[in-house]
Amino acid sequence: MAGIYIHIPFCKKKCYYCDFFTQIGLKYKEDFLRAILLELEQRKNYLESESVESIYFGGGTPSLLSSDEIKTILEIIYKNFNISEYPEITLEVNPDDITVQYLTNLKYTGINRISIGIQSFFDDDLVVMNRRHTAEQAHRSVEQILANGFTNLSGDLIYGLPNSDPCKWSKNLETFFDLKIPHLSAYHLSYEQNTVFSKLLKTGKLSLIDEENSLNQFSILCDESRKRGYEHYEISNFALPGFISLHNSAYWMQKSYLGIGPSAHSYNCVSRSWNISDFKKYLEGIFINQRNYQHEILSESDRYNEYIITSLRTHWGVNFQTIEENFGKMYSELCLNKSKKYIQNGNLMLNNNILNLTQEGKFISDKIIEDLFYMK
Ligand SMILES: C[S@@+](CC[C@H](N)C(=O)[O-])C[C@H]1O[C@@H](n2cnc3c(N)ncnc32)[C@H](O)[C@@H]1O
Ligand code: SF4
Repeated sequence: MAGIYIHIPFCKKKCYYCDFFTQIGLKYKEDFLRAILLELEQRKNYLESESVESIYFGGGTPSLLSSDEIKTILEIIYKNFNISEYPEITLEVNPDDITVQYLTNLKYTGINRISIGIQSFFDDDLVVMNRRHTAEQAHRSVEQILANGFTNLSGDLIYGLPNSDPCKWSKNLETFFDLKIPHLSAYHLSYEQNTVFSKLLKTGKLSLIDEENSLNQFSILCDESRKRGYEHYEISNFALPGFISLHNSAYWMQKSYLGIGPSAHSYNCVSRSWNISDFKKYLEGIFINQRNYQHEILSESDRYNEYIITSLRTHWGVNFQTIEENFGKMYSELCLNKSKKYIQNGNLMLNNNILNLTQEGKFISDKIIEDLFYMK
């Protein structure tokens, strides 16, 4: 089983927290579309005829593409890859791109899952983040998507925002769940280098919320989603039964994926590679069939570390038998020894040879994961 990711690097304006590789405006859109069709053909053997079970248009803002453009990309994918009978095909959308006409047209493209970037249902938050939609638009677009046949819908929210508190976050979640969106991706705000938010933080114009406030918001997220019947299947992802994302799961279960477009990453269990994060150089390389990219071959310890990062984040957890079978006894003993202190203090739990994060552990998962690494 494998996945294909297509990076659409255009946005109408830059959100202040975002460091994804994007450019503002649609200049060079035609060249870009030509390039990704070429890259798909140039790399048609990367997945070695593995069955492709998920295709994901991410960004940037994929909803800046017309339905015809999406259809053309999917036709080339179907022509060059072995696509399973019922693939999950996701389109990331921004609320203000949604119209009934656009949704109607999308139905004929093959898109069968939508992921909408809501971020918050409060206008003051949306203004602080420099989002281009309003809370009312988010509401309306969710209702339109569900009413027009796209029942497999996911929404993104961000918590831990400046001036946020547990009460406001609870209201955001309540609105989200009342809209009956079956999949939630909820991310704690991170201050990424070279974003407007990180500059405002440095100059004291924004301040971090305190740790207790952050932790309370995370606890509310875990508790409220559970009460509403959502499975917390990955640190930031929650799904009603039947709505776990195939594409996200493939990443976490270390399946192969092909990433197309500038900055996109690919992985095939032996190596990972990433396309250049430079629009012009990406286009130039593809047009002369000399893709600009970097790659690294994964050593055994890299692959063990990779397994820990991806598995511990999910409810499937780290399986000691898998470690032993794939990497040997030395690695399973190392992992067990390193996890002992976290099992004792209640951040990890061990049942039937499977290691999982507890709710407290999920909040400090990055630190725990790093501690379980094999260090050279
Ligand atoms: C690829 S992004 C963009 C999707 C789409 N362009 C949009 O903005 O709605 C996917 C999601 O990552 C989250 N995200 C991006 N940067 C973040 C940050 N610095 N901190 C927390 N969440 C972030 C947002 O929730 C965003 O919707
Ligand atoms: S969050 Fe989405 S819309 Fe905003 S800049 Fe990033 S990719 Fe573009």
